[in-house]
Amino acid sequence: MTNIKFHSGENIPLEMHKVRIVQKLNLPPIERRVEAIQEAGYNTFLLKNEDIFMDMLTDSGVNAMSDRQQASMLEADDSYAGSATFTKLENKVEEIFGTKYFLPTHQGRACENILAQVYVTPGSIVPMNYHFTTTKAHISLNGGQVEEIFLEEALNLTSDVAFKGNVDIDKLNALIAENGAEKIAFVRMEAGTNLIGGQPFSLANMRDVRKVCDEHNLLLILDASLLADNLHFIKEREEQYQYATIRDITREMADLSDIIYFSARKLGCARGGGICTNSEDAYMKMREYITLYEGFLTYGGMSVREMEAITIGLEETMDEQMINQGPQFIAYMTEELVKHGVPVVTPAGGLGCHVNASDFLPHVEQSAYPAGALAAAIYIVGGVRGMERGTLSEQRDENGVETLSAMELVRLALPRRVFTLSQVKYAIDRIVWLYENRDLIGGLEFVDEPKVLRFFFGKLGTTSAWPQLLADKFREDFGDSL
Ligand code: F0G
Repeated sequence: MTNIKFHSGENIPLEMHKVRIVQKLNLPPIERRVEAIQEAGYNTFLLKNEDIFMDMLTDSGVNAMSDRQQASMLEADDSYAGSATFTKLENKVEEIFGTKYFLPTHQGRACENILAQVYVTPGSIVPMNYHFTTTKAHISLNGGQVEEIFLEEALNLTSDVAFKGNVDIDKLNALIAENGAEKIAFVRMEAGTNLIGGQPFSLANMRDVRKVCDEHNLLLILDASLLADNLHFIKEREEQYQYATIRDITREMADLSDIIYFSARKLGCARGGGICTNSEDAYMKMREYITLYEGFLTYGGMSVREMEAITIGLEETMDEQMINQGPQFIAYMTEELVKHGVPVVTPAGGLGCHVNASDFLPHVEQSAYPAGALAAAIYIVGGVRGMERGTLSEQRDENGVETLSAMELVRLALPRRVFTLSQVKYAIDRIVWLYENRDLIGGLEFVDEPKVLRFFFGKLGTTSAWPQLLADKFREDFGDSL
């Protein structure tokens, strides 16, 4: 797993950093956890930080910064227009991606808003390896339609396919043949494909997609938010690149893209975002939207401190020993859970460990939100907050009928460099215990269901008194342990 071997032969992810600033954590007793999740309407988004021990909701904006990032924030050059800090970031982006133009935004979805407004028209189609929630929402808002052209294997949760994030080239060709290239707004490839478990695509696949785009004069847009994980997996799993540098792999991906955008809440371990391109035409089309929605062209909604931190963060992303930390911890967690028979998405991807709630809770109907129930149960037994990625995260159709999700997952994100191995072991321990007691877990039902983005604000209740039964069993087995 790591390139540092242990005499014991064990695969242990070794932290290649030391902790210099810490934040005290609180693990409330299980009685409080039962109360807290009830107050939160069994929606982990609504839990308060003070009630959480390990926050595995997301990696977004909560990756640990390096000492160099923190230090850079102190020397940020503040001005509304033309700050030296922006120039530094612009130069770093050009150095890494080889792109001449950089448009700053306040975060990733802001890039999606602008790209959709510029390129998506009513009736147009956007093929992609898989959608992300905000991407799809912006494309739909502009009258476009997302077409997912993933491999069959992408939805196979237990697999050994190295690149489940690949585009199915036959499906892409068929889609173009059926609709005509003029209906395609652009082709989107998402690095470290989020919603199928942080699964990467290969550079060979990206080259094939590029070829199709060239044949039909189509734009290829790369969502590089989870690029760091994808870079790691290309180096680890794509034979041709095992000796390539991360910098060279990055440049090859960038050269295959017409436009790259990213959430700097993920890429670069800071906050913010941006759009990069070598096309003057694309730059000119998008520029006015930056000033309209984000801010002036030299900050785009970001503070100068954030921009300094992104500059260093992007540089640090080119370090293999830095970007392998996340995937190695995720692989450890995934493999340990597999050893105990807990159903998880394999192969381990980036972003986090993904638990398969359908197999964990086969007795909970999809209409009773098994992934939501499992996320609530994981919080109850461990104070560990994960994110539901299943039917709750979908929206009802226009007739009010539930859209059942293709997968019921609980994402346990591992923000980069945040947790120690003993904390990860603790989470594994509690989840294994929960799996052994899974029959106690029941379903959820909506009490207050917002029409839009219900997974953020919605409140639910339980279909039986299962949280209390779970807590009673916990007390029986763990005594007065927290
Ligand atoms: N693209 C991908 C692949 C993402 O994972 C995200 C965010 C975005 C775009 C939007 O970026 O949040 O900066 O506006 N993912 C977060 C997550 C929210 O928790 O996975 P943003």
